[in-house]
Amino acid sequence: MPTIVPLTYEKREEPRLYFTSLLKNMKILVATEKPFSAAAVEGIRQIVEQAGHELVLLEKYTDKADLLAAVAEVDALIIRSDKVTAEVIEAARNLKIVVRAGAGYDNVDLAAASARGIVVMNTPGQNSNAVAELALAMMIYMARNRFTPGTGSELQGKTLAIHAYGNVGKLVGRKGKALGMRVIAYDPFITDATIFENDGVEQVASVEELYAQADYLSLHIPATAETRGSIGYERLMSMPKGATLVNTARKEVIDEEGLKRAMSERADLKYISDIAPANAAELEELFGKRFFATPKKQGAETAEANMNAGLAAARQIVDYLATGNTRFQVNK
Ligand code: 3PG
Repeated sequence: MPTIVPLTYEKREEPRLYFTSLLKNMKILVATEKPFSAAAVEGIRQIVEQAGHELVLLEKYTDKADLLAAVAEVDALIIRSDKVTAEVIEAARNLKIVVRAGAGYDNVDLAAASARGIVVMNTPGQNSNAVAELALAMMIYMARNRFTPGTGSELQGKTLAIHAYGNVGKLVGRKGKALGMRVIAYDPFITDATIFENDGVEQVASVEELYAQADYLSLHIPATAETRGSIGYERLMSMPKGATLVNTARKEVIDEEGLKRAMSERADLKYISDIAPANAAELEELFGKRFFATPKKQGAETAEANMNAGLAAARQIVDYLATGNTRFQVNK
């Protein structure tokens, strides 16, 4: 049974104008096609019920109609990679808040939510360690020829290049350094060089420079209008001999045709992805041991990450309903 640490709230000088009363007896739905661990669900239940709300569960659903029916009467929603489309928002007549228990919120139609005044949050950092550990595991798996007989290689002494230096990127860098890798990183949104310096990580000036030096390139960019399909032929072809592209971010950021072309032209390149690309069967057939994809996203699938992200989501909802705290809101 998890220990539930009671939240303490900062006293607010000025109450939010639009948040005039404590919302009680709310229905909070956990809708997870890929469910949390039973212990995490129990922890979420305790937080929800201790705050005087009701927990509703929809797990392992396979039909969108089930989600549409489940959201109809609820006030708050906790999801993972579940798709909250305009249709779902439309069906959720009482919905006030959606919390994506995790980092990426590309599965939520933010415009549709904002149009209805629904707050959308994520739980940044809560599952980062699990994803970072998987990224390193994937590097070792590919370095050792996917654990098939034959001579592999070591990570020590190789250059680990991190594309986007957020919560996961930082942890990947730290773990890479512990394995004796040289770590370089690029993040166009970080202007403070001391963030890299303090971690002993070399900041490179451009994305081109990052890929040109990467024995292992670990992707941590979100799927946005700008990044979708942005990693393809050109980037892969610029990587050093024997390079491996590791994707624990989103499959959508890959230009799959470009990737296929680069791997066809260069028999030394490898690609490993946490969630299968659309052309996975073809890549498997063409490239054998040089390609691997998890059948279902594994990054956040640890007991610890389930607990951290699930409980954070429940706390954020309870807090929002009690105080109007919008700290982790992503559609401000
Ligand atoms: C995230 O964005 O937090 C990860 O991709 C985890 O996704 P999941 O909750 O569907 O496993």
